[in-house]
This record gives sequence, C-alpha cells and structure tokens, in this order.
Amino acid sequence: MNNVDLSVEVGPLKLRNPVLLASGTVGYGNEMAEFIDLNKIGGIVTKSLSLKPRKGNPPQRIVETPAGMLNAIGLANVGVEVFIKEKIPFLKNFDVPLICNIAAGTFEEYVECTKILTAEESIAAFEINVSCPNVKEGGLQFGNNISAVGKITAAVRAVTEKPLIIKLSPNVSDISEFAKVVKEEGGDAVSAINTLVGASFDINTRKPKIKNIHGGLSGPAIKPVAVAKVFEINRNVDIPVIGVGGIMNWKDVIEFMIAGASAVQLGTVNFIDPTAAEKIISGLGEYCTKNNLQNISALTGSYVID
Ligand SMILES: Cc1cc2nc3c(=O)[nH]c(=O)nc-3n(C[C@H](O)[C@H](O)[C@H](O)COP(=O)(O)O)c2cc1C
Repeated sequence: MNNVDLSVEVGPLKLRNPVLLASGTVGYGNEMAEFIDLNKIGGIVTKSLSLKPRKGNPPQRIVETPAGMLNAIGLANVGVEVFIKEKIPFLKNFDVPLICNIAAGTFEEYVECTKILTAEESIAAFEINVSCPNVKEGGLQFGNNISAVGKITAAVRAVTEKPLIIKLSPNVSDISEFAKVVKEEGGDAVSAINTLVGASFDINTRKPKIKNIHGGLSGPAIKPVAVAKVFEINRNVDIPVIGVGGIMNWKDVIEFMIAGASAVQLGTVNFIDPTAAEKIISGLGEYCTKNNLQNISALTGSYVID
C-alpha cells in the first residue's frame, strides 16, 4: 500500500489522489474540516459562486428520493467578494487544491467572476457550472446550448491561465459534442455530470414536494447515467474527464476510472457520511495493492470491450 501512487493529472492540474469533494455538498470546505483531514483529499470544489450573493430558491429545497435526493437550492452563495474575504483565509490553513466553481446568469458575469478570482494565488483551478437545472437564468439555458457552452469556455479561457474545467449537464442528447466544443475553445477538462432534472409530488396535497417544482436528482440513482456519460466522452473526445454522480464507496470510484475518469467527485455521499472521502481514499490504496497497480492513473479508460 505504501508504494502505491494515487496521484493523478487532470490536464495541467496535479492532484495527490483522484478524490475531490463536489460543488454544493461541502460549502466552502469549512463544513467538512471537523469531520475529515482536508490535507488528505484530492481537492475541494466550492459551492457555485456568483458575482453577488444569492439567497437561492425559497424552501422546500430538498427532498429524499428512493435512491438519492432532489435539490433546488438555486445556487445560494456568499458571492465572490465575501468568499475572498471570509472563506479563503480559512482554506489557506490547509494544503489542499481549491477549485472554484462559478455560476452566472450572463456571459459577462462568468468573465467578471473569473477575472476577480484568478488573482487569488490559493485558487488552483476553476470549474464552470453551465449546468444547474434549478435556476431561471443561466444554468440549463446555457448548459443545453452548445454554442453558449463554447462561448463561455472561450470567454473564461481568455481571462485565466489556471486550469479550466467545464461542468457538463447530463440533460442533453449527445454529451460528447459538448466536450468537443470545450476542448476546441481551450478548456482543460470536463466534469460529468451535474444533476438530472427531476420532480416529485405529494399524493395527499397534490403539491410538488419542492417549491421550485423541478429539482436536480443526485445520488446512487444517477450513477449508471454518469458512468455512461463519462464513457461516451472518453471514447469520443481527447479531454480529461472528472466523473461525478452517485459515488458511495471506493468501488464506484474504480468503476468511474475504468470508464474513463481521470478523477472523481463525491457529492450526495457527504450528507450521508461526511467521513466517506477518507474511507474511499484508503479503499483505493488497498485495491491498487491487491491488483498490483503501482499508479492508480493507469486505470483511467482501461475498460475491456469484447
Ligand atoms: C444539495 C446539492 C447542491 C448542489 N449544488 C451545486 C452547485 O452549487 N454547483 C454545481 O456545479 N453542482 C452542484 N451540485 C451537483 C453536485 O456537485 C454533483 O454534480 C451531483 O450532485 C451529482 O453527484 P452526486 O450524485 O455524488 O451527488 C449540487 C448537488 C447537491 C446534492
């Protein structure tokens, strides 16, 4: 186990291991620090940040589903200025790559947020959220539109030299086409997937269980969809993929890597077991030892198809 190299590269982004914490499920990292040693994880992806603070959608914003959850938080966040003043100083206490996730309602807002944040030395990379399913402006209006995704990638690329990851929506017919555009416009990697659009009704009141009506479905229910999307991108486009969707344990991580992921993100599992990341990282080490794998990165895209 000691000899196993868990480090991976996601384009220009070097990580000590492939396990990142997904946007929106760990706040700005601070919410996790009392449960796990942040110095041991591959990286933290922040809650989506917008130029100004956002309150998000009115409650009810979360509902449990048979194998996951629906959320319509609506990108509630502190905004970039407060993030820089109040959240980054805490994160500087840790040696962990910080990936800033940005969401916006306009092209200009994506650019403005990136311009402000790129000056922060402690930010290792950007993940651009073009795929939130539960906001009126931005979100899927961009994520479903291939030319908008290309335009956002190019515009953000023009204002930062840091690694640039675009987070794709699964709510499209051909995700590879989106990954292709990201590559053409200078993106370094893609994350797949954001949540799937879902809804749920109370059979007694006949009202939607979520005030916003629609929410994003996450958790184990979406894992096969996410694995399929990662595989599709890996087969069709030469761009690193970060796999996300329904990961509950180390076996799920191995499966995502075999399907083509260079790294992964843990989302919903953090609500069930906030110590999951550490357990998963040690499980990966043991798997590599048992399978005589010196570098876990050799798993990426190692599927065998007869
Ligand atoms: C409560 C909640 C809030 C989320 N907020 C964001 C967000 O702000 N930005 C974003 O890009 N993704 C957000 N996501 C999506 C996750 O990062 C992830 O892509 C998705 O949940 C699938 O992974 P999982 O099944 O492991 O949760 C959120 C997910 C949940 C459950």
